[in-house]
Amino acid sequence: MYRRKFAKETQNMNIIITDDYEQMSARAAEIAVRIVTENPNAVLGLATGTTPLGLYKRLIADRAQNGTDYSAVRTVNLDEYMGLPKTHEQSYAYFMRKNLFDALGIAPENTNIEDGTATDEQAECARYDATLEKLPRDFQLLGLGSNGHIAFNEPNTPFGSTTHVVTLADSTVKDNSRLFSQISEVPRKAFTMGLKSIMQAKKILVLASGANKADAVFGMVRGEVTESLPASVLQLHPDCTLIVDKAAASKL
Ligand code: GLP
Repeated sequence: MYRRKFAKETQNMNIIITDDYEQMSARAAEIAVRIVTENPNAVLGLATGTTPLGLYKRLIADRAQNGTDYSAVRTVNLDEYMGLPKTHEQSYAYFMRKNLFDALGIAPENTNIEDGTATDEQAECARYDATLEKLPRDFQLLGLGSNGHIAFNEPNTPFGSTTHVVTLADSTVKDNSRLFSQISEVPRKAFTMGLKSIMQAKKILVLASGANKADAVFGMVRGEVTESLPASVLQLHPDCTLIVDKAAASKL
């Protein structure tokens, strides 16, 4: 495992390259546990997807072993599929409860996510923006889409965006279909936190693993800062760490 600082291309991004997914997850867990230990009232911005699962398993194991206390932590999630109620197994609300919140003892009232069943889209986006405003994040965890998206901010989303409704890119529907029994079941629309809101977190941690993320990682770190690769905006964040395994870092 080694660290790299790309002085010219990315003045602020701290990059940690690990041998594999497990090492990436372990390193991420150290950072997350430290944040909660130092500030038990921390507001954590959390992400779904396959990538953070190893980190979440480690947070659960750490709590069992060391008693790290999450009872005063509040969470805000990035995004939610439109049309899925929080009881639906593929909803992100369900994912968080099953893979993290229950096991960490985080009460439902301390968690926040867009309501996938909201019928008034604008009102739901405004409600979520107000929630984000009330809960400034100490920490924001991000995965990375193979097309460079973060949360569900697909290519060409304005950097100034707040919570909004997106139509998912075909590549995202295809990528995410592995978690559904068939591709036709993947919702085509979602609510997502916007790029401006993501950038407002005090500290950002991005995780990426596997060769199918290598192009997106390259663009995020070395490419120009452009709305056509949403993750490139992170080059402008003053405290952003990327933990990436060798396969995903292969083009750096
Ligand atoms: C989804 C989520 C993103 C996530 C991305 C990558 O589209 N909305 O927040 O980062 O997928 O997912 P994975 O970690 O499964 O590769």
